[in-house]
Amino acid sequence: MRNDRTLSILKPDCVRRGLTGEVLRKIEITGFKVCALQMIKLTRAHAEGFYEVHRDRPFFSDLIDFMTSGPCVPMVLEKKDAVESFRKLIGTTDPAEAAKGTIRRLYAENKGENIVHGSDSPENAQKEIAYFFGESGIPADAA
Ligand code: RTP
Ligand code: MG
Repeated sequence: MRNDRTLSILKPDCVRRGLTGEVLRKIEITGFKVCALQMIKLTRAHAEGFYEVHRDRPFFSDLIDFMTSGPCVPMVLEKKDAVESFRKLIGTTDPAEAAKGTIRRLYAENKGENIVHGSDSPENAQKEIAYFFGESGIPADAA
């Protein structure tokens, strides 16, 4: 199991608020290499599949409404210990509790609309990368 890649999504609030470039720059200067990137508006089925693990949680329908509310930017990021390193960069789910300097603390407005997703384990990173980019969706020269 490789541990040098993670799946991130710049969520619809990030794109809507014109923060795509600023957040991406922060990710890159922290040492992450962007291996693949797209901008898409998720269908409900696509968003529900991605967040299937949360289906029975009370916030599920709000989460799906939010994630389908506008375009988002899924991307594959590469760095040593990518999953852990990226979770550290984005901070905790609730921006009010996130460490100073983290992306969610800097930009997110609340626990639901929190700017960015990061995979929570190397196993899930591999599944999530395949969910958006398939086996061959990553440009060869970036791999
Ligand atoms: P993510 O999966 O998006 O990277 O976020 P996370 O691991 O920090 O948080 P997770 O527990 O996986 O929750 C997924 C997303 O659901 C929304 N959420 N809303 N209102 C609430 O109490 C609540 N809790 C979670 C957030 O958008 C969260 O990122
Ligand atoms: Mg999560």
